[in-house]
Amino acid sequence: MTPLERVERLTDSQIEQLWGLYQGEWWTRGRVLEDIRRVLEHSDVVVAFAESDTGRLAAFARILTDYVFKALVFDVIVAPAHRGTGAGRMLLDAIVAHPALRAVCHFELYCLPELVPFYRKWGFTDDLGALRFMRRSRPA
Ligand SMILES: CC(C)(COP(=O)(O)OP(=O)(O)OC[C@H]1O[C@@H](n2cnc3c(N)ncnc32)[C@H](O)[C@@H]1OP(=O)(O)O)[C@@H](O)C(=O)NCCC(=O)NCCS
Repeated sequence: MTPLERVERLTDSQIEQLWGLYQGEWWTRGRVLEDIRRVLEHSDVVVAFAESDTGRLAAFARILTDYVFKALVFDVIVAPAHRGTGAGRMLLDAIVAHPALRAVCHFELYCLPELVPFYRKWGFTDDLGALRFMRRSRPA
């Protein structure tokens, strides 16, 4: 498997590749390039890896944070060709060890039940007592 290197800022073609990754996942399918560019501009921290030889985006996540109390992790995606090869581990290691997030009390994310064992490896728990995740959607 091609070695991966850290990407600090996505190039235009990597943004298009992110669009491609988004089309493959149930919660990001249908996102359009213009919105993705805006989302990247306004995400506090982006953690990404690309293939060293081709520059192709291989793993991505983005984080919204106040840098003190909370860091909310979104859109954790490894490109299908790289799954099961340690890229997800690389991504999560880089998120929880990110120097800008060193002081953060809580990393949080939401995921389907089948991903709980994956995130447990980095100390995430779904034992939140009576806490409930709530959402208000924009009226159609
Ligand atoms: C979930 C995902 C990020 C994992 O990435 P990956 O590159 O396949 O993971 P890795 O190969 O680095 O595996 C790291 C460890 O997690 C384990 N693991 C991987 N996927 C897992 C899963 N679905 N459930 C439980 N453990 C999992 C591996 O066995 C490995 O364990 P080990 O290192 O202790 O042996 C990847 O499958 C993916 O992008 N899925 C589609 C998008 C998605 O669902 N993202 C999560 C949104 S909440």
